[in-house]
Amino acid sequence: MTRNTRFPLALALVLAAAMFVTLTTGFALAKTSDPAANAGAAAAAATLEYTLLTGGDTGQLVFVGVGGDIDGVINPTLTANPGDVVKITMINGDGMLHDVVIDEFDVRTEQIADVDAQDSITFTVDEVGEYVYYCSVPGHRQAGMWGKLIVGTPTGDSATGADIVRNPADVPAPVGDREPQTVRVDLVAEEVIGQLADGTTMTYFTFNGQVPGPMLRVRVGDTVEVHLSNETSSQFPHSIDFHAATGPGGGAVYSNINPGETAVFSFKTLAPGLFVYHCATPSVAHHIASGMYGMILVEPEGGLDPVDREFYVMQGEIYTEEPYGTQGFVHFDHDKMLAEAPEYFVFNGAAAGLTADDTALHAAVGETVRIFFGVGGPNFTSSFHVIGEIMDRVYDQASLTSAPLTDVQTTLVPPGGATMVEFSLDVPGRFILVDHALSRLERGLVGYLMVDGDPDPAIFDGELTEGSGH
Ligand code: CU
Ligand code: CU
Repeated sequence: MTRNTRFPLALALVLAAAMFVTLTTGFALAKTSDPAANAGAAAAAATLEYTLLTGGDTGQLVFVGVGGDIDGVINPTLTANPGDVVKITMINGDGMLHDVVIDEFDVRTEQIADVDAQDSITFTVDEVGEYVYYCSVPGHRQAGMWGKLIVGTPTGDSATGADIVRNPADVPAPVGDREPQTVRVDLVAEEVIGQLADGTTMTYFTFNGQVPGPMLRVRVGDTVEVHLSNETSSQFPHSIDFHAATGPGGGAVYSNINPGETAVFSFKTLAPGLFVYHCATPSVAHHIASGMYGMILVEPEGGLDPVDREFYVMQGEIYTEEPYGTQGFVHFDHDKMLAEAPEYFVFNGAAAGLTADDTALHAAVGETVRIFFGVGGPNFTSSFHVIGEIMDRVYDQASLTSAPLTDVQTTLVPPGGATMVEFSLDVPGRFILVDHALSRLERGLVGYLMVDGDPDPAIFDGELTEGSGH
């Protein structure tokens, strides 16, 4: 284990307080959880500089943040306040043709294909809102090359909160057939005020700003070199326990770090499977309930059979003092957690988080989908079910070395456990992901799989009726 003290954010705040300072990339993200930082940013229109590297060492069509709070973050959410000047520099990191475009501001970089070549866009943001930056090379945005620019950051209890829902399509490319190697993984413990539901915010603990943390993908025999950093602005220590690791605490006892520190450890993946990782700092259940979980897929030798779509979904519960549906900022409730009486159940971190058009699962008739489904919990077992579908194959308990179950309606997934399910799509429509303990649907636990394509009356025929719960 190594520990490094990172550059203190306090100094950045001092700099921000000086009027008309140009914030460098390293200090560009005034933490949404730190009102002082926002006050500083609002007091003086600043030039915010962000740097995005295409691909990096991810092997994916993504932007990777460089420097500051976005360092190493895939498709980082960029933030600014109205009146700020934003400068985004794109550096080509993969030798493929890319650009960065934001339609609303009518800005675009040059299209660049040379490694290490760069171009910038600079523009003033006036309107509060959420915008999308993306690569306009055909197919790249669809493959995942986009992120958000949020203008206007929350400064108090009535604020909107950051969008912490991880897009279920945010799945790394298959590893496939290659020799074992060492894979470096960078994770950052970030405490953010995020949006729990429409008009409701809370403090989340996250890996890399979203829930669940990034899906990681390696093959059996790989050595995973974990670099965990805890943000300087954090209030709590954090750590990480990989269920894929064989070793004390799954690494947690080698990675419990205070704000501003970094820990490094490595483990060899001895068995294939889909494994949960989570923070294991006491109160562990508090950290997990606040969003600190994710999954790592350890592919068997030769990889998984190809499918058309892969999705990443995790279930958890949230314990708040205020009743379900309360507007404004809501507070964590330790007693309700010990009583296992959550107010919210969530897929990917937020109530109805996977029902918006841009966060639902999307596929088409004739395609085969694979869902990597896990339960962060901390406490509730899921009776995972897709309304209107039969799961052709269920890799029960996420065991990839056992034969799958076939033709399954509902499958059990315990806290700290996972499953891998596959099915083909025969007819179009809206298919609903639920935990079939359906009271939880009324506490936010619902996601949509939207399937495009032509109807097949031989398989399903009828007239839509109003008012169904489905
Ligand atoms: Cu933690
Ligand atoms: Cu665990």
